[in-house]
Amino acid sequence: MKVKIVKSSNIDTQIRFITKEDAGAIRDFKGESGNIAVIYDKKQTLIYCGLGEKKKVTTDTIRGAAAGGIKRAVDLKRKRVALIDPKPGRAVDHSSVSCLEGALLGAYSFGKYKTEKPHGISLCEFVTAGISRHEADTVSAVCDCTFYARDLVNDNAHVTYPEQLAREARKIASSNSVSCTVLTEREISRKGLGLLEAVGQGSPYPPRLIIMRYSGNKNSKKQSAIIGKGITFDSGGQNLKPSGHIETMRCDMSGAAAVLGTMKALTILKPKINVLGVVAAAHNAIGAKSYFPGDIYKSHSGKTVEITNADAEGRLVLADAFSYVQKHYKPAEIIDLATLTGAILVALGDTMAGLFSNDESLSRKLFDAGEKTGERLWRIPVREEHEEAMKSDLADLRNTSKLKNGYAGSITGAAFLKEFIKEIPWAHLDIAGTAYNEGEARGEVPKYGTGFGVRLLVEYLLAK
Ligand code: BES
Ligand code: ZN
Ligand code: ZN
Repeated sequence: MKVKIVKSSNIDTQIRFITKEDAGAIRDFKGESGNIAVIYDKKQTLIYCGLGEKKKVTTDTIRGAAAGGIKRAVDLKRKRVALIDPKPGRAVDHSSVSCLEGALLGAYSFGKYKTEKPHGISLCEFVTAGISRHEADTVSAVCDCTFYARDLVNDNAHVTYPEQLAREARKIASSNSVSCTVLTEREISRKGLGLLEAVGQGSPYPPRLIIMRYSGNKNSKKQSAIIGKGITFDSGGQNLKPSGHIETMRCDMSGAAAVLGTMKALTILKPKINVLGVVAAAHNAIGAKSYFPGDIYKSHSGKTVEITNADAEGRLVLADAFSYVQKHYKPAEIIDLATLTGAILVALGDTMAGLFSNDESLSRKLFDAGEKTGERLWRIPVREEHEEAMKSDLADLRNTSKLKNGYAGSITGAAFLKEFIKEIPWAHLDIAGTAYNEGEARGEVPKYGTGFGVRLLVEYLLAK
């Protein structure tokens, strides 16, 4: 969707916003947040989006309302819309940015496998004084990169297998600010990334370690690393997932998709920072060559791991990525994104991702980026008893905890990862609840792949 910033618009379909207090002017309309009324006035179609009570309007309300409005315009098969920047009656931070963001994000659909392609809107005239051309371009670029991440998640696992993720990374690296190195299965084996090798060995689609490097500040050696879990399909391996749990598992590379989407955004926005974008990619397949529960494997760090469950594979591939990246690239900090545990859905539901960290300042900055973008985080502690629960009798570590009933499953997953972090700030985002929406679309969050993490990471990195 092309965006024009204008002072007024002649387009006959308008998306307007209205608070509960002002909604009385429209018959049978309450103006609650989420409500939409369509009014036909001569040649005009006026789509009114409710914002609810004036005093409760936030940046999230506006983003969600704009997404609802644009969806209605899509349903009505409009090609061009005017988006009228809301005046909620009090100052709301970043309201114009959220409005545009909601409208762009809400128009997304994944039409690749539909014979009849979904309707798309080609032009949005944004009637506003609250945003510059440059800001609008930034919002558009980040939304496009969110779509890119959503598309990667939504496509078939037979399309986005590990080498295909590597191809995507190389494509992003064809921009001259990014370089890309890919370790093949032979190199993974030769360099001793025994955990990544083990998880990938059961599949005809071999594993990859993908390392992109965005260099926006050649005067600085400092670089952040963002690392994504890229399990292109998680069958559970020899601990095969049952029906009801396996069907969505092409989403298990959502962390990787967020990293690729973020790196792509950096090539467009060109901030003066250095960022490593890393993807640990493997297909956790069941087959004669799959790694066996009970066996012990040696990680790249040297620590040995008893495989107590072949379905706890994400932490294994990430562990090797962590130690390889720390050894060879010396990042100043690591942020990983992973659809790591089903337990995070129990703890936080599907509207917040779990944040686990060894660093107060990094946690605070990520939390704030989450509040601003609506990709929200909630911090959960990792304590000694959780680290203790990951110790094995036969090996150094086990990949699932000794705690009964898998208690604190998201924390013990994080505790395992922590074993592979040396003395640097680290944050782990468990996005198993937020990366893939099994329910109906809500506001800017679509059904299926959500692209969670791209806007959050860009916000965090650009503030550096
Ligand atoms: N990919 C799954 C986690 C997941 C669950 C992602 C639901 C998205 C939605 C992960 O690899 C997994 O299977 N985790 C196990 C860990 C357990 C064996 C300790 C889980 O959550 O059950
Ligand atoms: Zn699994
Ligand atoms: Zn998994």
